[in-house]
Amino acid sequence: MSELKQQLEKIVADSVLELAVAGEEALRNIEVRLLGRKGEVNRVLSAMGGLDAAGRSELGSAVNAAKKELEQAIARRRTALGVELSAALAENDWIDTTEPGTASAAGHEHPSNAAIEEMSALFERIGFRRARYNEAEFDRYSFEMLNMPKDHPARDDWETFFLDAPENKKMGKQVLTPHTSNAQGHEMERRRPPLRMVSFGKTYRRQSDVTHLTMFHQFEGLVIDRGINLTHLRGALDHFAKGYFGADRVTRLRPHHFKFTEPSFEVDISCGLCNGTGKIDGVNCRVCKTGWLELGGAGMVHPNVLKAGGIDPKVYSGFAFGWGLERTMMMRAGMRIPDIRLIYNNDLRFLRQF
Ligand code: FA5
Repeated sequence: MSELKQQLEKIVADSVLELAVAGEEALRNIEVRLLGRKGEVNRVLSAMGGLDAAGRSELGSAVNAAKKELEQAIARRRTALGVELSAALAENDWIDTTEPGTASAAGHEHPSNAAIEEMSALFERIGFRRARYNEAEFDRYSFEMLNMPKDHPARDDWETFFLDAPENKKMGKQVLTPHTSNAQGHEMERRRPPLRMVSFGKTYRRQSDVTHLTMFHQFEGLVIDRGINLTHLRGALDHFAKGYFGADRVTRLRPHHFKFTEPSFEVDISCGLCNGTGKIDGVNCRVCKTGWLELGGAGMVHPNVLKAGGIDPKVYSGFAFGWGLERTMMMRAGMRIPDIRLIYNNDLRFLRQF
């Protein structure tokens, strides 16, 4: 019996040194070797057969004590290994939570949207109210109320997209509005003079080349009050031109014809690409060809348009203008765009420049 006990003591004593240096894997092997079903401790138990009842009981308790001691020693080593691992991680794999983070790349507004905000602010400064009217529109607002009766040839000027949608008895066919002048009728129906409105919106025409987009933006100005005349129109355009382009850019009014204004004009601004000369290195400027770029139309609101909006032309007069947003943007100092369609190609190399 004492021999068996000695064996057990030796197993426990020998394990002390081994456990002190064991790593994770060695620890698992030692555990199986000593405490496994066919392990060293259980092997001592197999000698039980030769003992009497008292001896068996004594050996049983000795084996249990040895198992307990070994289990505890193994658990202690396991804990120690865990602590060592955390310490190593703390040393080699750490982050400074107080360090400023890496900022993720932030985008910015599309240049057209930024231009809308900037232009709108200029008009709001002189008392214009910002409005927005329909892109999908009835004939009544895009043409009829603007002194262009059905089948009038002036309608052909706008190269309109017609919608495959039911015609309305009173309002007529539906179109993608080819200009923001549809805002005039809506504004007059909704509000009474004095009116001072600027409306930005998307417009559509069957056109596409270096100076024409199929989808583009216009902004429409409408002022109606008693005693409004051409000098008020000039004043508003000058305020905008000075604020948006700077004092060195020049505008000019060219007599023109629109069915909804009388007199009518086209507003041009000197080209920023060729500085108003029409040539770059002796070659015709690809964008303007003449040194001037047309920004849009303007004029005094036609009496028939006022009447269509329920406003008495004997009491009130007004002016209106409608400019192309992209052309206006392009003409500003520093924006040298050889093809207007680049604005909506969604090429980040282009957009990141603004
Ligand atoms: C009009 O659309 C009139 N409604 C403007 C107006 C309003 C006149 C109020 C009088 C009173 P026009 O067709 O010329 O006019 O277009 C106005 C401007 O829109 C043009 O000068 C140009 O700057 C811009 N524009 C027209 N078509 C395109 C296009 N396809 N791509 C980009 N810009 C365009």
